[in-house]
Amino acid sequence: MEPTKGVSRPVSYFPVSPMMLFPDALGNFSVYLWQGGDFVLYTRSGQRFTRRHRKILHNNGVKEVFVQSDEKSNFDTYLEENLGHILGNDSLPWEDRSKVFYEASSGVVEEVFRNKLPSALNEVYFKRVSSIVEDSIRFLASDHSLSAIAPFISHDYKTYTHCIHVFIFTVSILQTYDLSEKELIECGLGAILHDLGKTRIPKAILNKRGPLTRDERQIVQAHPLHGVSMCSMLPLSQNSINCILFHHEKLDGTGYPAGLSGDDIPLPVRAIAVADIYDALTTSRPYADSIPPYEALTLMRHDMRDGLDMDLFKRFVAVLGGADML
Ligand SMILES: [Fe+2]
Repeated sequence: MEPTKGVSRPVSYFPVSPMMLFPDALGNFSVYLWQGGDFVLYTRSGQRFTRRHRKILHNNGVKEVFVQSDEKSNFDTYLEENLGHILGNDSLPWEDRSKVFYEASSGVVEEVFRNKLPSALNEVYFKRVSSIVEDSIRFLASDHSLSAIAPFISHDYKTYTHCIHVFIFTVSILQTYDLSEKELIECGLGAILHDLGKTRIPKAILNKRGPLTRDERQIVQAHPLHGVSMCSMLPLSQNSINCILFHHEKLDGTGYPAGLSGDDIPLPVRAIAVADIYDALTTSRPYADSIPPYEALTLMRHDMRDGLDMDLFKRFVAVLGGADML
């Protein structure tokens, strides 16, 4: 199809790689070209973007197309629905795929945390989170993905970004073990939901500066149980439930809620514990400044070694080093 008539410039536009527009995928947003000093409509909202559309762009050497900013949420929905295609598209640069992954996963998990599963829409959200995990697990298990994602990792603490980071780090650690893709997905889902129960803890306690009272500490320490009870109506595997319920257990038995120790703590849970502490230390929280990666790892190795799986910790350090994150 030939480019159609020119339009005035009513709103701002953002650039998109044509590689993110999939033949036969239907998006509720219009696509524009920048031609002759103006934005020119190329495909209308609701019109299929065909192979021919893509070929014309390719033949003309078009590296960027544009979408109007007021259609950004429709574009984000399209990205989320096509996430598996995008992340598996080797002709897209790692950086572009990482940005799509980070934005899509943050968007969904933020909504889940804002709406405090379970709500009337719990199954819808659960499916969306499950799809994000399934669509991204192979991408995250690649050696290249972590270094490409690193620039997007925020160092300002928010519970939902923390859960995304723990998901990313946990999968990066676990891919060094011989786990099946199904197990990786189940543990990834547990990792991304691990702190869901914090939505039931009053913000005044979660964000309190200074030490917690004994009662406050007990309230905070109930969050793994809240998380599991909030997911009780969802079809979660035992692997996922273990990750939510036991992520604060410690190898020396001093953790909570069950005081498990040693090998009674499943391997994926031990991975989440390492990822969880590392992300918390390297992120600014209301009651504590962030510390640099090297300091965080030193602190974990010296002061927390009795509670952590040190073989797994060494693998994590190697993963971070390999991704140039140290
Ligand atoms: Fe937690």
